[in-house]
Amino acid sequence: MIVDVHLRPEDLDAKLREDARRGLTSDPKYLSPTWLYDARGSELFDEITRLPEYYPTRTEFALLRQHAADFADAARPEMLVELGSGSSEKTHVLLDALEPYLHTYVPQDVSEPALRSAVTRLAAEYPNLTVHGVVGDFTDSLTHLPAGGKRAIAFLGGTIGNLVPSERAQFLAGTAAILHPGEGLVLDRDTLIAAYDDAAGVTAEFDRNVLRVLNDRLGADFDPARFVHRAVWDPENEWIEMRLEATEAMDVTIPGLDLQISFAEGEQIRTEISAKFRLVGISQELADAGFVVRHEWVDPDGRFVLLAASRE
Ligand code: SAH
Ligand code: AVI
Repeated sequence: MIVDVHLRPEDLDAKLREDARRGLTSDPKYLSPTWLYDARGSELFDEITRLPEYYPTRTEFALLRQHAADFADAARPEMLVELGSGSSEKTHVLLDALEPYLHTYVPQDVSEPALRSAVTRLAAEYPNLTVHGVVGDFTDSLTHLPAGGKRAIAFLGGTIGNLVPSERAQFLAGTAAILHPGEGLVLDRDTLIAAYDDAAGVTAEFDRNVLRVLNDRLGADFDPARFVHRAVWDPENEWIEMRLEATEAMDVTIPGLDLQISFAEGEQIRTEISAKFRLVGISQELADAGFVVRHEWVDPDGRFVLLAASRE
């Protein structure tokens, strides 16, 4: 069991400072969804995946169970790299199916606590597998990822939808650049149901967690209780946004950025986009990045598809 820290806490802090300064001084204000995930944010996301309203995880699990063996036989990877692996819950299904071929599993995530606990658990559960975790940012160059044997990259959970289109193109080109011909990528796309504002309020807590991260890491004095969670569908871009809305006018001080920002009553911060793709659109984006789609596995309700693509 190995954990490479490609992104040290101080590197992460520098990125957070840069992003928060840019996003919170823009109009409208926004933050990257990456900052939702500290130890508590990762736990809240796992709780979301078990909510009755949040269909993507369940749907994807079912697709993986049904089709992982087909994928394994077609791709036969020796190394599985998973980007944004979080708690690696779903990965079991892939690892079990890939067992005859696989020697190494490489989970990569920006949330070090989530990554370390997943690596420890998986190393115990799969003693014949080398589990090589990487703390890193999947929007950075991926050239530092371990190599050795035929690789497949998994990008699950709909995380591709959290990237804005320019980041998405850059991400796909970056993955294509590190793969050799015949090596592949597995990702998913889901269609919309408003699973982003659950009755129990877990998603609202998850959303407000980003303010706690800013308070913890930058000494900010956000009062999360004075922000309400909103989930808003953008029909033009075909993505759902999480936003935090100020319940009253207020000033917030962020000592770590040497910055004071003002909110008007009702002013919002966009904290996440979650794009929902059409099959033809995402297939074209993959083609533009140099991939050929080999398999598309759609759930019976047509709400979610698992794609396997490889370099030409
Ligand atoms: N793949 C898992 C988790 C999805 S949640 C699943 O399908 O359930 C999104 C994950 O991406 C979180 O674990 C989060 O910490 C991670 N993440 C967010 N931004 C990231 C970035 N820029 N680089 C690496 N990981 C990131
Ligand atoms: C990780 N990501 C794909 C989730 C999503 O659906 O966009 C995060 C999430 N946001 C709100 N609920 C879950």
